[in-house]
Amino acid sequence: MSRKILITGGAGFIGSHVVRLFVTQYPEYEIYNLDKLTYAGNLENLSDIAHAANYHFVKGDIVDRDFLDALFDTHRFHGVIHLAAESHVDRSITNPLEFVMTNMVGTANLLNAFRKYGDMQHGRFYHVSTDEVYGELGMTDPAFTEETPYHPNSPYSASKAGSDHLVRAYHHTYNMPVVISNCSNNYGSHQFPEKLIPLMIHNIRNRKPLPVYGKGENVRDWLWVNDHARAIDVIYHKGTSGETYNIGGNNEWKNIDLVHKLCEIMDRKLNRSAGESASLIHFVADRSGHDFRYAINADKLQRELGWTPSVQFDQGFEQTIDWYLANESWLEHVTSGSYRDYYQAMYGGR
Ligand code: NAD
Ligand code: TYD
Repeated sequence: MSRKILITGGAGFIGSHVVRLFVTQYPEYEIYNLDKLTYAGNLENLSDIAHAANYHFVKGDIVDRDFLDALFDTHRFHGVIHLAAESHVDRSITNPLEFVMTNMVGTANLLNAFRKYGDMQHGRFYHVSTDEVYGELGMTDPAFTEETPYHPNSPYSASKAGSDHLVRAYHHTYNMPVVISNCSNNYGSHQFPEKLIPLMIHNIRNRKPLPVYGKGENVRDWLWVNDHARAIDVIYHKGTSGETYNIGGNNEWKNIDLVHKLCEIMDRKLNRSAGESASLIHFVADRSGHDFRYAINADKLQRELGWTPSVQFDQGFEQTIDWYLANESWLEHVTSGSYRDYYQAMYGGR
């Protein structure tokens, strides 16, 4: 049986942690990382395992159907772990069609290629998705379960919801062996600094304004990226075909409280006076259609597959901040070029 696994989006934030985990934990697998290397993909994220004997990088676009068919025809993958996506809500508001192409058409192309050339008998197609497909919650609503109806609100979440539906339909129609997981917000090393936590760290260090949308009242559940990768490992190997699993940190924060906590830690680490970083906080115009609250009920994953987060938030958060402070050159590299233009457009060079 082929032990070849294709991981898409492996040069991105979460994908790089998943690739590292599979390459190091499973020397018997051949891991193929397929990535287009968009602004969000950076091979530096994987420099420590780039020369591992069981690791292979393929540069390519999942929207390119002929390329994908040829790749699958050559390798006859046993499994696919699909993370490649356009992932930033703000970008989906300014450029929705790119999200439809990569997230929906790209996923459809992968499903077709796996159906034609993948291991439909014993293999697995794992689709990595988001809790944002469920829509938004009020402050006192119960957390999302796997039974919560889909109600995506942003072009990003709608494109992810569409891809989830396609995956489920391929299971139902063609008996494709699939699993889907829907995870809450991740934090950790190697996250592109357009997302809340690395953006704020970057700006605090450079004494730039900290743009908090609206009043900062919106709530997100935060999970350490390494724990997400561990959950993907467990679900890939032990999850039931056709099933969905929610993944979450049981760790809800209002944005403004999280930013204040970050400011306090950064003052301490940068030897700045108390309150110096918080003085950079600027309330800016709210995101259009900004979902108020996400919260995940991950009981099914714990009950059926025994997964729980491995670290307390304080520990993971501190470790994450240390990583960004110690890896300034990484930040310099990923924030050069096209990102700089985007940043200028979004924040006017602040
Ligand atoms: P990311 O933006 O950091 O990385 C995405 C990767 O996909 C990049 O390496 C990029 O180059 C690649 N890619 C983009 N378009 C491609 C294409 N057309 N063909 C091939 N490769 C392409 O994203 P992330 O935060 O690591 O998210 C990974 C997955 O996890 C996504 O599917 C996302 O929806 C999901 N997810 C993310 C979070 C989160 O908090 N970041 C939470 C839940 C689920
Ligand atoms: P983000 O990291 O973009 O993730 P998502 O939108 O997928 O949840 O944003 C997390 C929260 O932080 C979200 O409520 C929007 C808010 N936010 C800000 O207030 N300021 C910012 O500069 C960014 C990027 C996000």
